[in-house]
Amino acid sequence: MAEKKPLIHLGIIMDGNGRWAKAQGKPRTFGHREGAKALQRAAEAFQKLGGKYLTVFAFSTENWNRPKEEVDEIMRILTVHLRRSLKQVMERNIRIKILGDTKQLSERLQKEIREIEEKSKNNTAGYFNIALNYGGRLDILNSVKKIAYEVKENNKSISEISFDDISNGLYTAGMPDPDMIVRTSGENRISNFLLWQMAYSEFYFVPYHWPEFDEEKMKDIFEEYSKRNRRYGAIKEDDQ
Ligand code: IPE
Ligand code: IPE
Ligand code: MG
Repeated sequence: MAEKKPLIHLGIIMDGNGRWAKAQGKPRTFGHREGAKALQRAAEAFQKLGGKYLTVFAFSTENWNRPKEEVDEIMRILTVHLRRSLKQVMERNIRIKILGDTKQLSERLQKEIREIEEKSKNNTAGYFNIALNYGGRLDILNSVKKIAYEVKENNKSISEISFDDISNGLYTAGMPDPDMIVRTSGENRISNFLLWQMAYSEFYFVPYHWPEFDEEKMKDIFEEYSKRNRRYGAIKEDDQ
């Protein structure tokens, strides 16, 4: 049997907060508040089970199209969540990185982001990425612009442009690609998450809503990953 690779990098599309709240007769924002607690549980369980990189989709470049009150509340929850997480992040030796265009966010939120990124930048036990005002297409577009600039400045020729150049210009530069992408809430789509990075990721679409997430569900993800047989286009001895 070929040796199984451990789950190093997990991506999660945290979906279903609104529907979960609505099913209980509560406002959508209640779902976002409970979703932040679920995120806390997920991060703890992930580290406990030996994962190294966790990338969660918190707010997409398309989510601005929601009612202003909901967007404001999500941003407020994220601001509070970052501030409250700092102590634990340092105790757990986790490095936090925000993936996305932060310039569009409120000054207060930008301040929390700068603080937690700066304070945690030398932490090494785990890497926790929060995709916030993130879009896979935006990510690729930004990377392409950086390369175009290098070409314009005559630092690089067009024929030299490589896959690595594109990867190195992404928000996830220097990180391994996600081994598995999970989406909660029963939707079977990607919604502009890590488009370039997921070329060979395993996908796992689960029916429960994000606020229901707990340690058992994280165990199930690791278990599911261990059953997958990644081939990367090749033929493995096991298949014959
Ligand atoms: C995910 O839950 C959180 C964000 C996208 C910010 P939703 O808010 O999308 O909840 P549903 O999918 O409408 O139930
Ligand atoms: C994807 O969820 C984005 C996040 C989880 C932050 P959406 O709820 O925005 O995606 P769609 O609209 O169902 O595709
Ligand atoms: Mg949704």
